Amino acid sequence: MAESIFLGVAWPYANGPLHLGQIAGAYLPADIFARFHRSLGNRVLMVSGSDQHGTPIMLRADRDGTTPQEVVDENHAGFLKSWEALGISWDLYTSTGTENHRQWAQSIFSTLLERGYLFKATSELPYSPASGRYLPDRYVTGTCPHCGFEAARGDQCDNCGKPLDPKELIDPKSSLDGSTPEFREREHYMLQLTAFEDRLKDWLKDKTHWRPNVLNFTNGFLAQGLKDRGITRDLDWGVPVPLEGWDDRRIYVWFEAVIGYLSASVEWAQRNGTPDAWKEWWGNDSKAYYFLGKDNIPFHTIIWPAMLMGYDEDLALPHDVPANEFLNLQGEQLSTSRNWAVWVPDYLESYPVDALRYVLAATMPETSDSDFNWRDYVRRNNNELVGTFGNLVHRVLTFLQRNFNGVVPTLDPDERGKELLTRAEAALEEEKAELSAVRFRAGLAVAMALAQDANRYLDERAPWRTVREDRTETERTLGVVLSVISTLKTLFYPFLPFSAQKLHELLGFDGEVRDAGWRTVPLAAGARLPAPEALFIKMDEDEVVQREMARLG
Ligand code: MF3
Ligand code: ZN
Repeated sequence: MAESIFLGVAWPYANGPLHLGQIAGAYLPADIFARFHRSLGNRVLMVSGSDQHGTPIMLRADRDGTTPQEVVDENHAGFLKSWEALGISWDLYTSTGTENHRQWAQSIFSTLLERGYLFKATSELPYSPASGRYLPDRYVTGTCPHCGFEAARGDQCDNCGKPLDPKELIDPKSSLDGSTPEFREREHYMLQLTAFEDRLKDWLKDKTHWRPNVLNFTNGFLAQGLKDRGITRDLDWGVPVPLEGWDDRRIYVWFEAVIGYLSASVEWAQRNGTPDAWKEWWGNDSKAYYFLGKDNIPFHTIIWPAMLMGYDEDLALPHDVPANEFLNLQGEQLSTSRNWAVWVPDYLESYPVDALRYVLAATMPETSDSDFNWRDYVRRNNNELVGTFGNLVHRVLTFLQRNFNGVVPTLDPDERGKELLTRAEAALEEEKAELSAVRFRAGLAVAMALAQDANRYLDERAPWRTVREDRTETERTLGVVLSVISTLKTLFYPFLPFSAQKLHELLGFDGEVRDAGWRTVPLAAGARLPAPEALFIKMDEDEVVQREMARLG
């Protein structure tokens, strides 16, 4: 029976171009998972959109001397181009700026308020008399009371990592103009997270399949005791609070952005002309997966589940939150402000997309931080993609073309050939088990190992030698290897969709590789295959490393 699989992927702030850390952290794993499930025949809904509110957008607008809306429009358009080029196969990629999203965010706010899960509280907030406004936490800087770091921000100290309240900073200053803020009493709405503590603990009990880092973080967070959280802010950029007299405040970006998972599902259904269809992915027969980087874990394992519980008990809670750790770059932490990052548009200008997808999948920070390194990137491309998988395909297809006019032989394996074909079927099961369990590196390794086995078989059988004395035997060999290449097309498809499509056509198949199913599609004996082309290209290691290192920092 086909399963309904929901994929919610973290909504990137539309405040600058995407970088490889984000791709490795959330978007690539989500896309691999979505493609894999579609290929299995499951019903997939994968949504996300641009997060267009919050201080990151406002800071960017202030810095560039433009408006938040302009920042958002420019970057959202850039994201759409990047998704297309990277092959991220969204069912819907929208933004938090839609009318539909505003309605959902406000209606969930109102429902939680009616049910008593929101309450008003007064707190002392930084107000800048110089600029005549309340300052977002991040706009206040000062000395950290814990470690003495002088440039701590009002939300967090970047030196010791402790979360902060602007009031705790020693000698606070506005980062807008350096003036000293005063603290004024101000009313805001709070989400009563404490009311969900027991339910959250209960819900987490059977989440033994979660990645240890995600589960430990979440349990640790709960063990410390939950705190009620402010969910409105003094801002004029964001979703308005749906109450009279609250025109000068907005719903906090994190509270409304996570609601995007639901509002985007509804938007997808409406655009599809089936307005209720989203319910299939939000009922209890569906499995919901959330893909994100580790800095977003509590919002998806505590706050969003609590909001869902409070809003409607019947909506599906996350089944798994396979958050990734961080991707470093050349051994150092990514930093967008220091330009220690590889920007997606820059990458795409110079190099092929599947090489990136391959290397990021092979080094994905699944259980600990990992490193992207240009030398390693070129080596993996040259040795693994070109040298192992590409070489196998190229050797076989050019040989078939030269010696058999490209005509596909009948599949008639000998004992050793049968063994390899059995290996190939087992690989389909093994990779399926790995990917189902959101283990992408291990899934990719299964595919590459089969390509190595097939190369070994080819070397043993040496068709280039047998062709002179025994054409039947040679065809036997080719039939086996072609069949394994057809299996590899399926195994690599979630990771390398563009190359898999090309291979699909080189093997004489029509239509889309994604519709072929999770299986070995048999080649048509007697059919004539088109002239082969290379799937991957070799790169010059020193040239790439020199060029890319010069761009960094
Ligand atoms: N915009 C946030 C970030 O980039 C992520 C939001 S995820 C969401 O860190 F689910 F809240 F939308
Ligand atoms: Zn500190």
